[in-house]
Amino acid sequence: MAAEIKNLKDLQNVEYSLEKLFADAEDFLPLLGTDYVELYVGNAKQSAHYYKTAFGFQSEAYAGLETGLKDRVSYVLKQDKIRLVLTTPLTSDSPINEHIKKHGDGVKVIALWVEDATKAFEETTKRGAKPFMEPTREEDANGFVIRSGIYTYGETVHIFVERKNYDGIFLPGYRKWESHYNPEPTGLKFIDHMVGNVDWHEMNTWCDFYKKVMGFAQIISFDDNDISTEYTALMSKVMSNGNGRIKFPINEPAEGKKKSQIEEYIDFYEGAGVQHIAVATNDIVATVSAMRDRGVEFLYVPETYYDDLIERVGDIEEDIEVLKQHGILIDRDDEGYLLQLFTKPVVDRPTMFFEIIQRKGAQSFGKGNFKALFESIEREQENRGTL
Ligand code: FE2
Repeated sequence: MAAEIKNLKDLQNVEYSLEKLFADAEDFLPLLGTDYVELYVGNAKQSAHYYKTAFGFQSEAYAGLETGLKDRVSYVLKQDKIRLVLTTPLTSDSPINEHIKKHGDGVKVIALWVEDATKAFEETTKRGAKPFMEPTREEDANGFVIRSGIYTYGETVHIFVERKNYDGIFLPGYRKWESHYNPEPTGLKFIDHMVGNVDWHEMNTWCDFYKKVMGFAQIISFDDNDISTEYTALMSKVMSNGNGRIKFPINEPAEGKKKSQIEEYIDFYEGAGVQHIAVATNDIVATVSAMRDRGVEFLYVPETYYDDLIERVGDIEEDIEVLKQHGILIDRDDEGYLLQLFTKPVVDRPTMFFEIIQRKGAQSFGKGNFKALFESIEREQENRGTL
């Protein structure tokens, strides 16, 4: 494919255009956006408190014993267009326990908003997707929702949500979650991309899955020449749907002198899974300082990162001293630049983390930062004794 980009020079010279990539493809799976992300966690009540306090999510909806559920409890949190669902089983025989036992807290569902969940299920399963949930109609006094689902990498699933006939708070069975504790939002707007880590030599299998089963196209690829430090390496390809609202970079480990961070993830998650959720903000300095004040830990970049910054990225609107103070990273492509920063893992195992991103034209993913970043991650690995 012409838009396949192999190195930094190509990335600067080749403009990829989603219109061009999808020009003669029939979009058999139109996606309107990310609907919600559901995490299976050990203690949803306490996790919800963390995401409210530290990330500024708002109490949105609740389902549990009080709403007639017997085996689980779910808290729904919202910030602008982002919905997080935190689910914990209430009984020892719930299959959710197996997920938590194996993976620790982690993302189970990346739910995608569609016009027609029945068609989404038919189109993807006929192309080889493994079914997770047959099209199911759920209803209450506010209307009805149809959901269906398929498996992707590891035990992660995509659920297709058709909600055009529903005007309730979240889904049938949920009620509004009234809380007297409502910390201010931190400026998080929407999910920019979600990254999956897959096992050795499986990146192409899963990129093919997104291509064939879901009609995505590859927009960028990095290999271990792009993303390697003295010790670690990874390979990555970015898959996008036709309208660009859904972007899934897929990483696999590559050989290095020591253990790659992707391999560390696979070891601790005990398989493939979601590595990070990148959330967009319009003011990264305000968002990051608010989150840091509320206890979120971010990866540290050495101050030397900023020494040749202007040479590398050209003029930017922000004050470099302020960016340096917050450890915010900057990268440029031919469409503009982006500012980004990564949290440390937000769970006990060194697995899932968040990225905060502000795009100023750039549509890429911060490749120029990877080396600085990986060196930072390696310092963390070294502290954990897992390098
Ligand atoms: Fe990212």
